[in-house]
Amino acid sequence: MIFAKKILTTLLMIFGLNVSTASADESAELVVEGQPILTKTKAPSHMENIDEVRSGWTFRIKETQALQMDDFENPGMIFVDKGIDLWNKVEGSKNKSCASCHGDASEFKGLRTIMPKWNVSAGALWSMEDHVNNCRTEQMGAEPLKWGKAPMDSIVALIGLQSRGMTMSVKIDGDVQPMWELGKELFYTRVGQLDMSCANCHEDNYGVMIRADHLSQGQINGFPTYRLKNAKLNSIHARFKGCMKNIRATPYKVGGDEFRALELYVASRGNGLSAETPSVRN
Ligand code: HEC
Ligand code: HEC
Repeated sequence: MIFAKKILTTLLMIFGLNVSTASADESAELVVEGQPILTKTKAPSHMENIDEVRSGWTFRIKETQALQMDDFENPGMIFVDKGIDLWNKVEGSKNKSCASCHGDASEFKGLRTIMPKWNVSAGALWSMEDHVNNCRTEQMGAEPLKWGKAPMDSIVALIGLQSRGMTMSVKIDGDVQPMWELGKELFYTRVGQLDMSCANCHEDNYGVMIRADHLSQGQINGFPTYRLKNAKLNSIHARFKGCMKNIRATPYKVGGDEFRALELYVASRGNGLSAETPSVRN
């Protein structure tokens, strides 16, 4: 671990970044619209190197934290509104909207906390995006939406919001186990010119400052997340892609098996935290 920290510090200095340690507001508590959100809890038993898991929210500066505490301030909610419009929009050869079959999105209360999950008929691990597109193509006769673009992210955020405050609890055994194992392996595999793994930053060095960025545990309980940096919602796979680019690695394919596996494994590292969708980060 000390070795890893040394590598990190050296590499970041080579690449011209400042590394220092600073403490976050450890005592801050997240309450959204009167609802308490659990941002710290005992790590799930499968995690060997971390005792406590923490939401990315606990690592953000006060001003960023505040944006997530009030739905009128949370810019992610603008996209949720767009998601509602899309939810009600009739599209495709069958003249249906999501609402035609599902009523309002609250039907999916709790779903976000168990995603990604095994889909029996497809015989595959499915992310939320897969469900949306499967319904669009099979149930509506409409075009699939592109992963990582505003319409898809908005509808995924609308569905995710229904579970806000509920406990993340993805399943990691049974049919999904091989994918979980793959995700775990990928999380610890060093890649790219910087020869780093997700764990080097998000497990060995969370709490360290990289430029103005306070390194978190890389949790996904708040996704899709609104980022101040690009002023839009960011999907889970888009975030993974960004992190891989930062270490000068060739990112895996958005919607491909590696990112699906990684999504499951990373989600399982957040089991016990509350769903926070849509979260706000820098
Ligand atoms: C060089 C260090 C580094 C590596 C390696 C790295 N990341 Fe990150 N990651 C960051 C930084 C910096 C941020 C922004 C601050 C934060 O939330 O940690 C970030 C943010 C994230 C977030 C958003 C967390 C939130 O609360 O919104 C996720 C998820 C994430 N990373 C996953 C990954 C995964 C998966 C990998 C491996 C494929 C990875 N990262 C590799 C530096 C890294
Ligand atoms: C014609 C009816 C119909 C329409 C229209 C429809 N769905 Fe579905 N949806 C279903 C059925 C039936 C299922 C369960 C079987 C399946 O997964 O295909 C389902 C499943 C889902 C699930 C997974 C639920 C779970 O618990 O696993 C999600 C998420 C979903 N739909 C979202 C949407 C969204 C978003 C839209 C609009 C883009 C939409 N659906 C449009 C009928 C529909």
